[in-house]
Amino acid sequence: MTDDLVLNNGVTMPALGLGVFQSPPEETAAAVETALNLGYRHIDTAAAYGNEREVGEGLRRAGVARDEVFLETKVWVSDFGYDETLHAFDKATGKLGVDRLDLLILHQPATDRFDRTIAAYQALEKLLADGKVRAIGVSNFMRHHLDDLLAATTVVPAVNQIELHPYFTQPDVQKADAEHGILTQAWSPIGGITFYPGWGEERKNVLQDQVIAEIAKSHDKTPAQVMLRWHLQEGRSAIPKSTNPGRIAENFAVFDFDLTTEQLSAINALDRGIRNGPDPDVPRTEMFDRVIPEA
Ligand code: A2P
Repeated sequence: MTDDLVLNNGVTMPALGLGVFQSPPEETAAAVETALNLGYRHIDTAAAYGNEREVGEGLRRAGVARDEVFLETKVWVSDFGYDETLHAFDKATGKLGVDRLDLLILHQPATDRFDRTIAAYQALEKLLADGKVRAIGVSNFMRHHLDDLLAATTVVPAVNQIELHPYFTQPDVQKADAEHGILTQAWSPIGGITFYPGWGEERKNVLQDQVIAEIAKSHDKTPAQVMLRWHLQEGRSAIPKSTNPGRIAENFAVFDFDLTTEQLSAINALDRGIRNGPDPDVPRTEMFDRVIPEA
């Protein structure tokens, strides 16, 4: 059994999903199939991950009815713009082999070309109005990006997917999301993603944290399970990535225990304010060079 969250447009989304960022295409179909067989009903992918086709293959292999699975994907910045983003929907659904998406989000703000971000979001609004997607949202938006978007568009995003694990909790973004009725979804929810080889001491792996290890021991659970439970009890969605069948199962065995208020507070106190991933406010022109292939 999973926890469900109700989005701001009334659509229900399973809180816990399988993430596939950095899942090699050749391992992705098996990971998705394994997850669905274990009871996962939410998969999060992205055009930029290069594995939408394999996510679709995993869906078909598992044989779970399409309307039982919540399918989320993201439009990459090189496809921002009104017509480009409408076409990005066709590319995504073509690769996934589905007619409709449950959630389509902008992968990140194009901070130095925000007009294109707005136009992309307006295309999402059109897709929503046409019934091609059940909900729309954003990713890696900070408070000021949300403010700028909301000032220029009509539909409040259902979801803002941001980097969020015990060492980086982004309280201001979470607050902004809550103020607008936007659900916060955690990427890298157990802090496991490695973006930069040779990280310094400041980017310690939260999976090794002592406070979390002790809480895990007290529940006879693992640190990853404690962190996922923390997200769920804080009312967030989380999409842990794994291609390892044992860890895919481990990450789903989080519905049979509760953290205490003190334990939640102890985890919240671990925040160091240091990102593992890129800063959404730093323009990276190379993002626009990445061409998302046709379906
Ligand atoms: P793998 O695919 O080999 O399991 P996050 O989604 O928080 O960024 O974490 C993803 C990373 O953490 C991946 O490298 C993944 O590797 C690893 N991982 C996933 N689940 C677990 C777990 N339960 N315990 C330890 N590492 C995990």
